[in-house]
Amino acid sequence: MLSQTDRPASLSDALRRRRQKLAAQIPFPVLLWSGQTSSRNFPANTYPYRANSHFLYFAGLPLYNAVIRLESGRLELFMDDPTPAELLWHGDRPRRDQIAETMGADAAYPISRLKGFAAGAATIPVLDAATRLQQSHLLDRMMTPANQLQDMDLALATAIVELRLVQDDWAIAEMRRAAAITIQAHQAGMAATPQAKTEAEIRAAMEQVVIAHNTTCAYNSIVTVQGEVLHNDHYHHAIQPGDLLLADMAAETEMGWASDVTRTWPVTGKFSGTQRDLYDVVLAAHDRCIQAAVPGVEYQQIHLLACQVLAEGLVDLGILQGQPADLVEMDAHALFFPHGVGHLLGLDVHDMEDLGDLAGYAAGRTRSDRFGLGYLRLNRPLQPGMAVTIEPGFYQVPAILNDADRREKYRSVVNWERLEQFQDIRGIRIEDDVLITEAGNEVLTTELPTEAAAIEQLVKSS
Ligand code: GLY
Ligand code: MN
Repeated sequence: MLSQTDRPASLSDALRRRRQKLAAQIPFPVLLWSGQTSSRNFPANTYPYRANSHFLYFAGLPLYNAVIRLESGRLELFMDDPTPAELLWHGDRPRRDQIAETMGADAAYPISRLKGFAAGAATIPVLDAATRLQQSHLLDRMMTPANQLQDMDLALATAIVELRLVQDDWAIAEMRRAAAITIQAHQAGMAATPQAKTEAEIRAAMEQVVIAHNTTCAYNSIVTVQGEVLHNDHYHHAIQPGDLLLADMAAETEMGWASDVTRTWPVTGKFSGTQRDLYDVVLAAHDRCIQAAVPGVEYQQIHLLACQVLAEGLVDLGILQGQPADLVEMDAHALFFPHGVGHLLGLDVHDMEDLGDLAGYAAGRTRSDRFGLGYLRLNRPLQPGMAVTIEPGFYQVPAILNDADRREKYRSVVNWERLEQFQDIRGIRIEDDVLITEAGNEVLTTELPTEAAAIEQLVKSS
């Protein structure tokens, strides 16, 4: 098991530094709700609980149905101690005062006291409807969705974005732990593949590692032989010789910090010639983008670099025809790479996307309506402390490639007969987690190989 103890500072020190930074920007009180879960069918049978990430950032602990108040660097905790029925059904748990001490809170009160502390407070609406209603009642104003904030709530969100964009030592230690568990999970998935009959069996081998570390998956795992379905959440397909298996899955620590990793491997342990050719094109894009991801570089330039390297590779293979720069200009690469090259990573796998593009896009920037740029989730200059993913891919998506308008538009730049020879590739993606540093970057997931031969070896190692 991986150690949880080698963190650089105590939790309460890390939290104090975060709220001092917030206080330097925000002169009014802030209330942040953890949220609660909802029921699957009857009240006691609930969906898994996940605390709100803005709450987690300042509270540090995945508390249930709790609120924190931040003002001038002070932290006040509002939560109820367990009722006798909760103790009976869910067992003992730390009391409010113990939790307050662990967090370094200045005061702690039952939830019923919150009303007296709500005046003039800003907040960020949580996603669960029951808690959002509580927020509206307590603050006496309707909560808009978190991607449409106004006034002091928008000022708060903007300040939080500035803090959460730059990961501190505590966060980085957590993300290293998430990455280490994720690497083990991918190795387990590769090793389980030769014996597996279905995608579900490979998913089980991977998620078993996450569960055994008492962590959770950071998002719904994608473990599929239909890699062209970008967020595929089906696991029933049989594994057939010649398939590529695309696995995009990762762990999230107990405190909520995420990893996000994709690998693609041949289920037999040997890429076909065509699979290997395209794998190496995607890998070249991945490697070049990681090399280029250093402070000061615009993330959109990294995305365009991925497009350029993919276009060059596809021209070399005879799938695209023309000058790579021209092909990128006309979005021909997006026929095969329709998504962005990555996104922010942190407490959320797409960090702070509850706020729409407030975190992902620098002030004044909006999404492009270009086919090859519209799904880019991050458009800011990189800075030390940012964690991002780099995840180029190649896909044959029927809805794109069979679209009559696109076929006409790109008729002369795609060699459709040549493309036919690559029918044994549905989807390839290679994704790593990259921490931007003063000196350049550090790949948090570098221990998981990306080279084709090493991937083959891991699959065969079972
Ligand atoms: N891991 C899934 C995604 O980045 O969208
Ligand atoms: Mn990702």
